[in-house]
Amino acid sequence: MHAVRYASTPPPPSCAACDSVEATKPALPLQKVPPKKRTYMKIGDPSFDYDKGGQLYSEVRKADPRIADAIHSALGDGRTVLNVGAGAGSYEPLDRHVVALEPSETMRKQRPRKLAPALIGTADAIPFDDDAFDAAMAILTVHHWKDRSRCLREIRRVTRSHVVILTFDPEAPTEFWMGDYAPELVDVERIRYGRISSITDVLGERCEVRPIAVPIDCTDGFQDAFYARPEAFLQKEIRKSQSAWGFLSPETENRIVSDLASDIQSGAWDREYGHLRERPEIHCQLRLIVAHP
Ligand SMILES: C[S@@+](CC[C@H](N)C(=O)[O-])C[C@H]1O[C@@H](n2cnc3c(N)ncnc32)[C@H](O)[C@@H]1O
Repeated sequence: MHAVRYASTPPPPSCAACDSVEATKPALPLQKVPPKKRTYMKIGDPSFDYDKGGQLYSEVRKADPRIADAIHSALGDGRTVLNVGAGAGSYEPLDRHVVALEPSETMRKQRPRKLAPALIGTADAIPFDDDAFDAAMAILTVHHWKDRSRCLREIRRVTRSHVVILTFDPEAPTEFWMGDYAPELVDVERIRYGRISSITDVLGERCEVRPIAVPIDCTDGFQDAFYARPEAFLQKEIRKSQSAWGFLSPETENRIVSDLASDIQSGAWDREYGHLRERPEIHCQLRLIVAHP
């Protein structure tokens, strides 16, 4: 088993998407940091090519009803909603008028028939007038945007009331164990997600940041959803639906998967983390940002 747990204490990474991402405090104070294991990664373009790699997205990433409830109640009583980076339509409320905006054809084609087709477009140039919508949502998409501030200003411009963003806060403590196996993956996500303040500073003072717990049977297959099901990461189709893996070399990905497979087989994973198989939910870095007008 892994004798040393890798912490997610960051080097000073850089990313065009984040206004400035400098050294931050350790996310997991209990973890040790072996310096020789640290990675110093740069990511120029944080976006993942969903046209090439998103074919299986809607199979693995199904809206989780508990997270959907949190998003829908955060949208307030707005009747018209813009969904930016809408993907295959996860989390779109069915009881309001929703306009979806999505750049990837592969993702648009996975929208179920019950949803209206999505407009082709990106968050940095939203083809609507000022205040066109009551509310807007951007779910697990900000980490793909090259010019985050511009995209957020665009969303604020076209929205009269609440702007709701689901994202991860890479500076927050987490009970998820992936950093012990894949410090590179943690680095990728820290660089791409950037600081929560890179969102709230743009959206204004009246922002709430709400922690969202991840349930043990979470149906949206982002990484943390499998905190109690490590075997899931051994499946290529699941990793392909988690964009961070696309920023690692094949060698690094193979090493992580092989270490995890071997620890699952030997029982080492269960000795260290087996208690999580019974935990109904974990507290991790998932955050819902609700910007009030
Ligand atoms: C992880 S998926 C999330 C999709 C959907 N919101 C969901 O919750 O399932 C990220 C989405 O953001 C889209 N995206 C990437 N860059 C974008 C941009 N600049 N503007 C708008 N959407 C973008 C991708 O095409 C992809 O569909």
